[in-house]
Amino acid sequence: MDNRVYIFDTTLRDGEQSPGATMNLHEKLRLAEQLEKLGVDCIEAGFPASSQGDFDSVKAIAEKVKTCQVAGLARCMEQDITRTWEAIKNANHPRIHTFLATSPIHMQYKLRKEPQEVLAMIEKGVKLARSLCPVVEFSAEDASRSDKDFLVQVATTAINAGATVINLPDTVGYAIPSDYAKLIEYMIKNCPVSDKAIFSVHCHDDLGLSVSNTLAALGAGARQAEVTLCGIGERAGNTALEEVVMALNVRRDLFHLETNIVKEQLFPSCRLLSMIIGKPIPANKAVIGGNAFAHESGIHQDGMLKNRETYEIMTPQSIGRTSSDIVIGKHSGRNAVRTRLEELGYHLNDDQVNAVFLAMKTLADKKARIHDEDLEALVFSEVYRMRIPDRFHLSNVAVQTSMGSSMPATAAVVLQDREKEVRLAGFGTGPIDAAFNVISQLCGTKAELEKFSINAITGGTDAQGEVSVHLRDGEYTATGRGSDLDIIVASAKAYIDALNRLEHKEKDVISYKQNPTE
Ligand code: KIV
Ligand code: ZN
Repeated sequence: MDNRVYIFDTTLRDGEQSPGATMNLHEKLRLAEQLEKLGVDCIEAGFPASSQGDFDSVKAIAEKVKTCQVAGLARCMEQDITRTWEAIKNANHPRIHTFLATSPIHMQYKLRKEPQEVLAMIEKGVKLARSLCPVVEFSAEDASRSDKDFLVQVATTAINAGATVINLPDTVGYAIPSDYAKLIEYMIKNCPVSDKAIFSVHCHDDLGLSVSNTLAALGAGARQAEVTLCGIGERAGNTALEEVVMALNVRRDLFHLETNIVKEQLFPSCRLLSMIIGKPIPANKAVIGGNAFAHESGIHQDGMLKNRETYEIMTPQSIGRTSSDIVIGKHSGRNAVRTRLEELGYHLNDDQVNAVFLAMKTLADKKARIHDEDLEALVFSEVYRMRIPDRFHLSNVAVQTSMGSSMPATAAVVLQDREKEVRLAGFGTGPIDAAFNVISQLCGTKAELEKFSINAITGGTDAQGEVSVHLRDGEYTATGRGSDLDIIVASAKAYIDALNRLEHKEKDVISYKQNPTE
């Protein structure tokens, strides 16, 4: 059996469905570029029939990505499939990924269809997709709760209609590794045309078993794993790409399986996602968390000093974490900054490098050591934001608090509302609350704060604070980010960033729309 495992990344589709992970078109393009560099085999760019915004971003990604396949998701029905093809047809390597539910509960209550009708829909949909696109994947939604023998009929029908990838998702995160492995084995053994397709796995993490289930399925003969960076996705999330790849790599003695992933791009890819969606990577996250390579106990430290392998099953360098990550400082020149940014995967033009360089100098006046994460935060604040014409810009914020007194915290804020400078002072229960109250009055917003988190980008008391703010205004939601040495300033920046993003969404502005349709 072939030992190559294909990595199908669905960060931009299933991952983007997780609350607060919405990305704009420019962010999706940036992430797609990084996924290509990471070496994934297929990028699932979105669900084109679900909205005009999704259609536009899938189309833009399909036109930008050169080496790997670009897939668009479609329900197994004519209008979805033709719309998806419209979005991906210009890709160098397009793939239509069509799906239909096959479990009794989904067929009865959601689809209101008999099994035979479902088979007929699969045959018709896959044939249509295959008449348009050279690569078609069919997913039997809720496969892990479907009848095994019906699934055999489903896979046989889809393969005979032209599908070359059959995905058996654990849609609701119900599977247990041993059972899931048996299902895959059963399918490969009993589907008479299984040699004409690759079997694929797609797991959700409701019981915390998505990585285990994925590995069990690969061990049982599946050769495509559907995964997302950091495991983001619906509900408890999808399967974390970095965990599956490193498990296969560290335990190749057991699996004897290979992927095309450039391991050294794992950490930069996850970090980029975290910056884009404004969600910090949890410190104890496997493979990429801040503590994943930190050895605290004396016995462990002693062992590490004698031989790293006593307590380390992989090195930080193998996943792209530089051990001495202090690269840039007060005396570094423009070229050093450009070179380091390129090493980190940011290919910026002269004006953009200059903007990061000047911001770095200002930061270096206040902070002795500039880490890679600091530089990345500057790229996001100075470069990526420059491309979206924001309405509000923070000019200044000052707060005052007094410990142990009944006096509320006060904040004074100056901001630019387009060309106009506006200023106001006000109160709050704490300094951040005061700053947010004043900003919301200045911006005239009724948006509600749904989530707020602060994270130190690097270690040390001089670390930059990275704040993420999630706002809701009726049906619209947006996550804003801000970073600064001062957490009040970082919070104010994040709040204003979220307000700007809401403003874009409400006006349905997609600033990077390259090929407007209808
Ligand atoms: O979880 C699932 O079943 C899916 C399918 C659409 C592949 O995401
Ligand atoms: Zn899914």
